[in-house]
Amino acid sequence: MKKNIFSAIQPNGPITIGHYIGVLKKWLVLQEKYNCFYCIADLHSYTDILSEKKFYILDILSILLSLGINYRKCIVFLQSHINEHIKLYWLLNCCSYIGELKRMTQFKQKVKEKNHKIINCGLLNYPILMAADILLYDSHYVIIGKDQIQHLEFTKIIAQRMNKLFNNKIFNLPKYILSSCSKIMSLLNPSKKMSKSDINKNNVIYLLDTPDLVSSKVKNCITDNDFPPRIVFDVINKPGISNLLNILSNISNISIYELENKFIGYSYKEFKKIITNKINSFLFLLQKKYFFFRKKEKFLKNILLVGKFKAKQIAQQKMFWIKKWLNYF
Ligand code: TRP
Repeated sequence: MKKNIFSAIQPNGPITIGHYIGVLKKWLVLQEKYNCFYCIADLHSYTDILSEKKFYILDILSILLSLGINYRKCIVFLQSHINEHIKLYWLLNCCSYIGELKRMTQFKQKVKEKNHKIINCGLLNYPILMAADILLYDSHYVIIGKDQIQHLEFTKIIAQRMNKLFNNKIFNLPKYILSSCSKIMSLLNPSKKMSKSDINKNNVIYLLDTPDLVSSKVKNCITDNDFPPRIVFDVINKPGISNLLNILSNISNISIYELENKFIGYSYKEFKKIITNKINSFLFLLQKKYFFFRKKEKFLKNILLVGKFKAKQIAQQKMFWIKKWLNYF
């Protein structure tokens, strides 16, 4: 039988090239061999609702279709369409400890970023909702970026805790599939991950950026002062150049090793120009499809309804069994 794969993307900003390389490329490949549940995790984005109220649900769906995600093969759905996520979330909440949530690296980073000011409870409980997403669909594998590994480990811990508590195998213990071997970093600060919610837009290449924008962002991105210039992959000493090599390798499907050889003797300016052209020709094709799909709102909403119908059946059945194990009736 085909195994289940779960993955999700938050609709809290337009999609970046980092997200494409990091996660969505894997979504595309794996849809051929597995039962894939691809979720637009809007409930997770509520954690920003006090400062940011825009959601990009149909934009993201259009991007997924443009990249080649096949909504007939996979279950593509909106998290808030399925109430069972909240039901299971609450149950898991009651079986999680505040201490383990407070120790999560992502939570600690958010607290630091927000300068300890407004920390809403959603930020603390975020991993529990993620665990509910995953466990509701008996996921065997979860596609995540490196930064989410800790959340997946937490999911396994709660799943085991519940299984032990009820002396039963209520939940599958999911394994993770790492989306990409190396993260795509921010352009001006290559020690930080490229993130769609970055305040400085010059750190990020979005899939919907115009050619001029891409050109100026790449031109201004951080490299180093090596003389003569050396285009080699060395994350510690040359984080900026390594990040560009990583982007180029993923967009062109040429190995970093081959690229290093190809660019011997090139200046950073020439190197950046080639990257800009490569990114722009990739985005040109993608955007053409995107604008075609994005205009068809009825069609897009219908895809989400089809996804809702399919996901709901599975989620409802899982909740039915969970309640039975809990001796609810
Ligand atoms: N937290 C993930 C992110 O920001 C998104 C997400 C929500 C997710 N629920 C999930 C990822 C379940 C994998 C599985 O990238």
